[in-house]
Amino acid sequence: MMLRKITSLFSRPKVTADENTLLQSIDRNKLPQHIAIIMDGNGRWAQRRGMPRSLGHRAGVESLRNIVKLCSEIGIGYLTCYAFSTENWKRPQKEVSYLMDLLVEYLEKEVVELHKNNVRVNAIGRLEELPQRAQEALQAAFQKTKNNTGLTLNLALNYGGRTEITDAVIKIANMVKSNEMEVANINDKLICDSLYTAGMPDPELLIRPSGECRISNFLLWQLAYTEFWLADVMWPDFQRYHLLQAIIGFQRRERRFGGLNKK
Ligand code: FPP
Repeated sequence: MMLRKITSLFSRPKVTADENTLLQSIDRNKLPQHIAIIMDGNGRWAQRRGMPRSLGHRAGVESLRNIVKLCSEIGIGYLTCYAFSTENWKRPQKEVSYLMDLLVEYLEKEVVELHKNNVRVNAIGRLEELPQRAQEALQAAFQKTKNNTGLTLNLALNYGGRTEITDAVIKIANMVKSNEMEVANINDKLICDSLYTAGMPDPELLIRPSGECRISNFLLWQLAYTEFWLADVMWPDFQRYHLLQAIIGFQRRERRFGGLNKK
């Protein structure tokens, strides 16, 4: 497979932690149901190696494949990955086009494997503004995997947290306008149900590699009480053991949701 051949040429850091030991350290009864990832650092990863940014994105797909597989193996319910933001259109047209091609290639090549692993492919964002070829590849993947009951892979594409909230407000305002809903009935739950993520639990764990420490317009509503985990590697270097470390770190945290601890 072309994609694997190219990415296997890239040097990656040696595994420094024993994956099996980490796997055994995980409390399977306390797994986050929903993990969100900002797949950041592809460009810098490539540039530091004197390569074009496009190869960083291609290497990033390899990390995505590995992380999706691990989430599916250990029984995570939802994995939401930020693949293309509403702001990413500002990048050079060539890079945008490359990312769209990569999305189509990923979906076409991976869908069989995803389906075999019982993964349901979903996407959030203004999908109707994506190029036709991307919309078609997404529809084909949705269709093929729609009855799967394992991991839901949620690709955030042409996604922006503010746009998502704006879309929810428009939906609710229209319901009020057409007398389907009264203003007095607008509450948290209605807003949750009007977001692209309707029906999904909020992420318990957000991972951002690359050392950056920003939300970048990702899941603004849903991240209210999410635990953040920053990894100091670029996304193409993010490996299975990084995710396991993040989950173990998450499991050691005390989550109070604005209340007090139980002691
Ligand atoms: C951010 O890194 C990454 C993106 C904008 C794209 C993420 C895409 C992938 C991981 C691969 C594509 C996956 C699919 C499914 C299409 P950056 O380019 O902002 O990196 P930088 O901050 O180092 O410049």
